[in-house]
Amino acid sequence: METSVIATSARIGEGTTIGYFCVIEAGAILGRGCRLGHHVVVRAGTIIGAEVQVGDHSVLGAAPMRSASSAPRPVDADAALHVGDRCMIGTGVVLYRGCTLGEQVMVADLATVREQVTVGRRTIIGRGAAVENACIVGSFCKLETNAYVTAYSTLEDHVFVAPGVLTSNDNFVGRTRERFKHYGGVIARRGARIGVGAVILPGKEIGEDALIAAGSVVTRNVPARQVWARNPARYFRDVPAAQLLENQDGRP
Ligand SMILES: CC(C)(COP(=O)(O)OP(=O)(O)OC[C@H]1O[C@@H](n2cnc3c(N)ncnc32)[C@H](O)[C@@H]1OP(=O)(O)O)[C@@H](O)C(=O)NCCC(=O)NCCS
Repeated sequence: METSVIATSARIGEGTTIGYFCVIEAGAILGRGCRLGHHVVVRAGTIIGAEVQVGDHSVLGAAPMRSASSAPRPVDADAALHVGDRCMIGTGVVLYRGCTLGEQVMVADLATVREQVTVGRRTIIGRGAAVENACIVGSFCKLETNAYVTAYSTLEDHVFVAPGVLTSNDNFVGRTRERFKHYGGVIARRGARIGVGAVILPGKEIGEDALIAAGSVVTRNVPARQVWARNPARYFRDVPAAQLLENQDGRP
């Protein structure tokens, strides 16, 4: 019994297996050796590399939505979703068109990655995490459960974002047209770490290898290699040498 709908123009690589009740739309390309679960939807034009795993009920290549009151930034409606080789996509994940995942990225159950986002190789996007539109996420990053990365943010390589971290990009909190000029996500430089439940205000920069303590509210830019804590966050101590990225054992 054939239960999936696969467009005739879709290309399915050798050895790829497709679960029950999947839909693979026109022009989609799946590399060799992929494993798709049940009820997976691969939208038109999506490009998936080799040996990619996709859990049940995930949508790859969802169309961006723009409400009448969304910030009016243009979206490239034609950009495809690219999923790199050996990525692991969990259950109930939504990946939008115009997003690019590097090799061996893991996106855990229920996470969402929006349009115009790039994610570097071997980064982990945790369960239920949300990466909003137009973000750059580097390689070897770890975004833990329910982390929230606001639109137009940049996370460089090896950034750690603990569970429940909240970032923001609009100091006008949805009021005035002036706000559109000042929109700005957060920036976390290479190796920066943000502790559980921290809040980062719009446009703030967390320096290289800095650590934001649990529950802090970051209202100012944080210099490199310093621990900042409390609300409002302020200097707490220097990051211990043993914890600096350059002193790790070489494992990513
Ligand atoms: C920054 C951090 C490492 C400091 O931990 P620590 O060195 O064990 O600190 P201590 O427990 O010795 O506390 C020293 C003082 O700072 C205070 N303090 C510690 N962490 C604090 C925080 N996050 N916010 C406010 N004050 C804090 C303590 O109350 C204590 O104050 P006191 O001297 O008046 O009693 C820790 O707070 C932290 O944020 N850890 C990150 C946890 C995390 O998010 N992990 C992510 C993976 S789950």
